[in-house]
Formats: sequence, C-alpha cells, structure tokens
Amino acid sequence: MFPLQRGRRLRVNESIRSLVRETTLSPSDFMFPMFIAEGENYKVEISSMPGIFRRSVDLTVLEVKELFALGIRAVNIYVKVDESLKDNTGKEAWNPKGLMQDAIREIKAACPEMIVMPDVALDPYSIYGHDGIIANGDIENDSTNDALVKMAVSQAQAGADFVAPSDMMDGRVLRLRQGLDAAGFQNVGIMSYSAKYASAFYGPFRDALNSAPKEIISGAELAKVPKDKKTYQMDYANRLEAIKEALWDVEEGADMVMVKPGIAYLDIVREVKNAVNVPVAVFHVSGEYAMIKAAAERGWVDNDKVMMEQLMCIKRAGASLISTYFAKEAAILLQKS
Ligand code: PBG
Repeated sequence: MFPLQRGRRLRVNESIRSLVRETTLSPSDFMFPMFIAEGENYKVEISSMPGIFRRSVDLTVLEVKELFALGIRAVNIYVKVDESLKDNTGKEAWNPKGLMQDAIREIKAACPEMIVMPDVALDPYSIYGHDGIIANGDIENDSTNDALVKMAVSQAQAGADFVAPSDMMDGRVLRLRQGLDAAGFQNVGIMSYSAKYASAFYGPFRDALNSAPKEIISGAELAKVPKDKKTYQMDYANRLEAIKEALWDVEEGADMVMVKPGIAYLDIVREVKNAVNVPVAVFHVSGEYAMIKAAAERGWVDNDKVMMEQLMCIKRAGASLISTYFAKEAAILLQKS
C-alpha cells in the first residue's frame, strides 16, 4: 500500500523493467504462413498484404532457409491451386504430385529441421471456395472427413511434420489421428484449428488464394451453395463453445489447439489456455496484418511498435506459438535488439 509500495520503482529504467518482465518473445514462438503458387521463379506480392508474397516452390525453399537462419522453426503452408484442378470433391488435395505435396517435399529436402505444417481443408481445391464437400445446400461433414484423411495422409507421405486441420468439421481430429496411425505416421502431429471463428478478418487470405466462397448459379443443386462459412466456423458471440471445441479436439488426439483470429479473441485464448493441457497456438490472421500495414503506410501507427505489442500481448494471453505474417519482420527486429 502507498507510500510503502510504489509500482513505479519497478519501471524506473529499461534494466529494471527487463528484470521483472513477465513475458518474452523469441523467433521460435512464431510460425510463418506461406502462400505457394505454380511455376518457377515466380513471386507476386498480395495486394492487400504488403510484404507478403505468393511464391513458386523454388523461391519458397530459399525463403524457408532464410527463415530458419532467423530462428523461425515452423511454416504453415497454403497453396493457390489452378482453377482447372478445382471440383466439389477436392480430389487434387491428395494428388501425390500436387503443388502442396511438391512444396512439402522440397522444403523438407532443403531444410529438414524446419517443421512443415500444411493446412488441411478443401477450400483451395473447392470450386465453391468451401472447406468441405457441398451436398444439399450445405457442407457435408462426414464425407468431408473422408477427404481430409486422404489429404492429410498424402501430406504425411510427402514429409509433413504436423498437419493443421482448419476446416471445422466435427470429428475430423479423431479421423485424422486414426488415418495417420493406420498409414504408419504415429509421429506426425496434429495442430487443430479448434476455435476458428467465422471472421471477416480472413479477407486478404482469401484474396491470396482466390478461395472466397462463391455462388455458382448453374443447375438446381449448385445454386444452393452457402455464401459464408457460418455453418461450420464458430459464431464470434460465443465463448463456452470455444472451450468445448478445444476439449473435444484434445480428446480426439490433437497435439496442439489453435484459436483464430488473434487480437480480438484474446479472452478466448486465455480461457482455452486454462482449460487444456496441450500447447495453445494463435493465428494472427491476414486481416489483422493488413490493418496494421494500411495504418502504418499512412503514418497513423508505427508498424514495428504495433507489431511487437500485438505479438507480445498474444503471448501474454496464453499463446505458446503464434502463426503470424509478421514472423520474419519480428524475428529480424528481435535479432537486432
Ligand atoms: C482455410 C483457411 C483460412 C485461413 C486459414 N485457413 C480462410 C478461411 O477459413 O476462409 C485464414 C488465415 C488468414 O486469414 O490469415 N481453411
């Protein structure tokens, strides 16, 4: 109690502040989401995400080596699939010679210690831009799970260390665990996007992959494609539901659970962290990145300071890992400090 206690004594200078700091950040806290495209020597910036590129596999490999040298130990990979390969079954997702499988193989060959975590969901492969198979006007849960198992096994065959289901189908973690084990991949882990909200913050990501849900009006059945992902991704008004989903995923065999998006959902991060006994990851998503970049370009906020503050606050809320488009920039800044 004042005057015996003075909080400011612990804030007098940077040395004392660093001694009592409760949370620290290091490059190994980060996972870097990467967009991969067909071609060679191809690198195109995503217009809504300055500094983030779609790269062909050869250039992706070079970037992964740089990331590793900076202390980053995991990449989340997403592919932009040619429109001609998309259909309602998503079968390109388990093509052993597909873009995702090539990328995994090449990254692991060039940088074996980098943890490669491909996304498991059908949206980049779906003509409708949905994470699963459409039937009778909705996303069919159980047949989608069958497809996801084939997808994850083919990613494991290509060398993935972890698979990361982001689709929000019920029961997919158990199905993936059983499928991976049956194929001999007991050591391939599952990082489940457990509490993934139906969020408008994913807009720039869908630009990057051209994977936004589309309404295709041709044929009676096709006309009934849901316009959004609200029948599988969570309602952002809900809190208890996030804990329920995370606990189910742990029971089903998830090695890590994820909360997504980040900054607006830190209450959920803390509650999930307190509820589970596995590492909690947070996805600091594309829209969050785009907002900081846009404001910083106008000189309205300081990019580096806002970036570090947000990443630190995500960690403080309970994240063991943060998937963030800022991973490289933040790692460079941390190396300098
Ligand atoms: C697809 C997927 C999405 C993201 C990661 N995996 C988009 C979506 O669900 O529509 C979003 C990531 C981001 O916005 O950075 N299953």
